[in-house]
Amino acid sequence: MKVLVTGGMGYIGSHTCVQMIEAGLEPIIVDNLCNSQQEVLKRIEVLTGKKPIFHLGDIRDEAFLGSVFNQYDIDAVIHFAGLKAVGESVEKPLEYYDNNVIGTLVLARSMRKAGVKSIVFSSSATVYGDPEVVPITEDSPTGATTNPYGRSKYMVEECLSDLFNAEPDWSITLLRYFNPVGAHPSGIMGEDPQGIPNNLMPFIAQVAVGRRDKLSVFGNDYPTPDGTGVRDYIHVMDLADGHIVALKAVGETAGLHIYNLGAGRGSSVLEMVDAFANACGNPVPYELCARRPGDIAECWASTEKAERDLGWKATRSVTEIAADTWNWQSKNPQGY
Ligand code: NAD
Ligand code: UD1
Repeated sequence: MKVLVTGGMGYIGSHTCVQMIEAGLEPIIVDNLCNSQQEVLKRIEVLTGKKPIFHLGDIRDEAFLGSVFNQYDIDAVIHFAGLKAVGESVEKPLEYYDNNVIGTLVLARSMRKAGVKSIVFSSSATVYGDPEVVPITEDSPTGATTNPYGRSKYMVEECLSDLFNAEPDWSITLLRYFNPVGAHPSGIMGEDPQGIPNNLMPFIAQVAVGRRDKLSVFGNDYPTPDGTGVRDYIHVMDLADGHIVALKAVGETAGLHIYNLGAGRGSSVLEMVDAFANACGNPVPYELCARRPGDIAECWASTEKAERDLGWKATRSVTEIAADTWNWQSKNPQGY
């Protein structure tokens, strides 16, 4: 099965490509490298013994995408390409809507032209906004998003749902990721954020490896057991496997398929700090600070639907998440 993977050089895409190759699928990567490195291709080859086909280009370039679809007999698309920094999206809303929304529309149009009607889209738990109840099920209300990044994900979900309503022979799978973290257990591949990390785990990893002095813990007065924010951290290898399972289970069946991809457990900031300290054998210095504007107290997934329909469940623990993140960061202190 040949699968066009947009954004396949990025954090989640690269791990998914490795697992796809291991599962006998053939990824064809399209990426403009705006947030990733050419080196990733070599690492995929080191891990799998196969160098995937890679085309450097932008998904908003319809002629470019058309030429890729013309060259291969593509069966399905996994669509990771997009911009993902919440703070930056507030500063640059037009860039975010252009990349994430227009990019998806150009991709869908190119797919239709090529007769490819199966897409798996990287959505986010951010579409649920501040949930009224946890764990969050797929039929919880969506749309109360708080920033342009979140709105762009919600808009794409709406666009693709409308496309399915108009053309019900499509297979459209919306995967709502919770908090992807961790790295390939080999330490050869992992998350390599540019600049100061926005997210918790890469920040902790950079403190542990000495690139930053200390972690700022954003708020310890939330209504949670230890007062710090609670999230659903899912190992990127579990997430990668979830894409393959989804593609096989529903990617060839017409329908609008919506699944949470989370571990189904909540962990606090201080629990993650502890897990990391155990993994690296040193305390992780931190200070308690004010809440980060826009943050919510707690968010974790109900994974029942994915378990029932896909037979998929995350298997990796927080201990493995910390160990694999440390393995990657200590072997690659400056990233790729
Ligand atoms: P990433 O930035 O590491 O990967 C995205 C890749 O897409 C990068 O390699 C980038 O160069 C490429 N890209 C961006 N715009 C492009 C364009 N116009 N044309 C071609 N390539 C382009 O991000 P990631 O963490 O791997 O996330 C992948 C997807 O999952 C994104 O859509 C993101 O919004 C979504 N998501 C991520 C998280 C998370 O915490 N990492 C959570 C929920 C959803
Ligand atoms: C972030 C994104 C969200 C995205 C999600 C999954 C923001 C505001 N939201 O959410 O859109 O869907 O990632 O990738 O960026 N924390 C600290 N110190 C830090 C960093 C984080 O204490 O330096 C805390 C946060 O307050 C939160 C937890 O750690 O309680 C997790 O934060 P983060 O990794 O940024 O993820 P989310 O806030 O869930």
